[in-house]
Amino acid sequence: MSSAIPLKKPVTDPKGYRVVHRTPAIEHDERADVIAGLLANPARVSPKYFYDELGCALYGAICQLPEYYPTRTEIALFREHRAEIAEAVGQGGQFIDLGAGDCCKAEGWLPFVNPKRYLAVDIAGPEVERSLARMAPDFPEIEMVGVVTDFSRKLDLDGLLERGPVTFFYPGSSIGNFTPTEARVFLSGVRRYFDGRPGSGLLIGVDGKKEKARLDAAYDDALGVTAAFNRNALLHLNSKFGFDFVLDGFVHRGFYNEPQGRVEMHLEAVRDQTVRLGNRVRPFAKGERIHTENSYKYQPETFVALLKEAGFASGRTWTSPGGEYSVYFAA
Ligand code: AVI
Repeated sequence: MSSAIPLKKPVTDPKGYRVVHRTPAIEHDERADVIAGLLANPARVSPKYFYDELGCALYGAICQLPEYYPTRTEIALFREHRAEIAEAVGQGGQFIDLGAGDCCKAEGWLPFVNPKRYLAVDIAGPEVERSLARMAPDFPEIEMVGVVTDFSRKLDLDGLLERGPVTFFYPGSSIGNFTPTEARVFLSGVRRYFDGRPGSGLLIGVDGKKEKARLDAAYDDALGVTAAFNRNALLHLNSKFGFDFVLDGFVHRGFYNEPQGRVEMHLEAVRDQTVRLGNRVRPFAKGERIHTENSYKYQPETFVALLKEAGFASGRTWTSPGGEYSVYFAA
């Protein structure tokens, strides 16, 4: 006699996870966009081009630097308020990890919130694949789905979420890499998935404003890891689009722009040079910069106001002892 073994986890793939690739509904010419940004004055490129395989590894190294306090401050906040945060999140829902990367931050939460589904959303396909392969055996009861998509353009999870509560997890102050206007639009896009799913929430970590010297050091560390992370974007652009940036032609600049309330990263030309961008040639004069990243810093009252504008009705805030970093749960 054979007896059926009840399976809690839907059989999605023999590997224990599946990965879907979500390309934007509206096609756009990515290469043409990048070239237009580099031909502009001042030149700019999206920070998403930091995150090829090497860039992901360098970001992991940044998070361990003594000067880069956000990661360890957030970890300490999560640890200290674990029980309260887990209670706010609730049990058995869908846990959606935005910018999942190596999935380590979310992995720490899974045993405390016991979701029925975990969705790792990231632009870096190989890293998501590797991370889910590592995690799936440890969480056999959780349905694991990787979603490879560029959500900096548009958050599109339509058809991928089931009924029942969703918790969006957006740690690491990545919201700061949007402008405040973009952040409001993005957060509204998150909020719309709560409709018809009572009990949903957003768990987000956000860096606060602080003295310039501290921020300058966090984004221009003594070891030069952030410099390598920034300059690696040129190697990534060369290999992805066939440009011919010469690495030693540019140096890293990272500093707090206090009036704007943001850290800026740039690549600065060390000499006059030209760069071939497909069939266009971009001359760079010595000292000219390519703007590669903004990292906005928010005081808690400003961020709470932004959450309200994005449609969130209620929330809780946990702030680190020095007021340097905050974690919010918004419903
Ligand atoms: C991913 N993001 C939140 C980081 C930040 O702090 O803006 C990226 C980074 N850039 C330089 N260091 C780290």
